[in-house]
Amino acid sequence: MDSIKVYLEKNKERFLAELRELLKIPSISADPAYKSDMLKTAEAVKENLLDAGCDLAEVCNTPGHPVVYAEKIIDKTLPTVLVYGHYDVQPPDPLDLWDSPPFEPVIKETKIHPEGAIFARGACDDKGQMFMHVKALEYMTQNDELPCNVKFMIEGEEEVGSEHLEWFIKEYKDRLTNDVILISDTGMIAKDVPSITTGLRGLSYLEVEVTGANRDLHSGLYGGAVANPLNVLSKMIASLTDENNHITIPGFYDKVENLSDEERKKMAEAPFDLEEYKEKLDIDDVYGEKGYSTLERGSIRPTLDVNGMWGGYIGEGAKTVLPSKAFAKISMRLVPDQDWKEITELFKKHFESIAPKGVRVEVKPHHGGYPYVTPIDTIGYLAASKAYEETFGKTPIPQRSGGSIPIVSLFEKELKSKIILMGFGLDTDAIHSPNENFGVWNYLKGIETIPWFYKYFTEMSRNN
Ligand code: BES
Ligand code: MN
Ligand code: MN
Repeated sequence: MDSIKVYLEKNKERFLAELRELLKIPSISADPAYKSDMLKTAEAVKENLLDAGCDLAEVCNTPGHPVVYAEKIIDKTLPTVLVYGHYDVQPPDPLDLWDSPPFEPVIKETKIHPEGAIFARGACDDKGQMFMHVKALEYMTQNDELPCNVKFMIEGEEEVGSEHLEWFIKEYKDRLTNDVILISDTGMIAKDVPSITTGLRGLSYLEVEVTGANRDLHSGLYGGAVANPLNVLSKMIASLTDENNHITIPGFYDKVENLSDEERKKMAEAPFDLEEYKEKLDIDDVYGEKGYSTLERGSIRPTLDVNGMWGGYIGEGAKTVLPSKAFAKISMRLVPDQDWKEITELFKKHFESIAPKGVRVEVKPHHGGYPYVTPIDTIGYLAASKAYEETFGKTPIPQRSGGSIPIVSLFEKELKSKIILMGFGLDTDAIHSPNENFGVWNYLKGIETIPWFYKYFTEMSRNN
């Protein structure tokens, strides 16, 4: 299959141009103003899948944004790979921090990408990574190298919690049967240190509202005599972690899986440079739960973070006001075997119980998802590992990630197969941030590696 290299060399300009076209459409799932762009993107993905050789591709309506489903079935007795990805992106703001407009993709050289990186919202997360699979399929069908069946399920609501994908999976269950689910929506350690993601954290996302008096008050006339919801909310949030940065919600850690010393030792072997980490973020020290390393804090331990907090006067200059309401958005990243629905309930109960007299508290759950961990002794993992060996010349390191793809654990539950997370992103890609980018090298390396996965997975399934 060395011809993949030749094919890439010949077609890479077109592969980049086609991705740029997709990146131009602002498929922002969170903002209803972009509903028609969501549809336009779904149509474009469908067309690309047909061009790549699928014999069926559909834009499937859901109660939310549509899902693109496509397939190429060459022989029902052969294994089937189901590719999952998402065509929606995060909102691009703050816009003024972008060096070039988020939906006008450009290729620029960077320190770690002398070959260039493509700058646009969604370049890595996940249009770029999803599109690697489309182009890998094109290579396989054009060169008679597709060894098995393939199905695609590309959704448009990942960045807002995959609210309707559960409905879709149940509705389309018969068509989604597969032997392995393949996803490129995560990262790897470094260009010369390939890794396979073996775990994702779960999530509980909610909003809290603290109400004091029935109207904003003069902070001179009432200050000191009536509860200030922003003061109260700050105190309540501060009390959710103790001096060791442990979370104080009763029962929060009850189901947290404790890794053995041996597993932790193995984790610590992964290359990680704390000094470099701090330098890149321009911080003088890291911060987190006592007793755990930075790598552990960011992957195998649960967290509680305020994502936004507001209320009162935030305009120009000063206004003396005692706000009537205060708000915060809070996320908790969860690890096996925490149940996000249980954790959401525990949070709600606790938060309500610590509210002082004089305010009312409301907790509004948004969305969530279960954590996921995948074993490394399955055919899927071994096939992926061999694929990286072919194209990187190194065995990839299994590594648990701190991010979440909330729907992944549901795939295993509903579709009864293992999920393989072959991510090609890097820390420097700035996903969800201004100037998101994806290395041209990473994009092409992904396209080169994926066909090897198909080959080994099919071979290993046959011998099993
Ligand atoms: N692709 C990311 C998740 C990710 C990135 C996992 C890098 C591992 C490494 C995904 O699109 C994402 O952003 N997920 C959200 C959750 C969602 C409910 C908004 C997240 O992790 O914040
Ligand atoms: Mn993603
Ligand atoms: Mn994302």
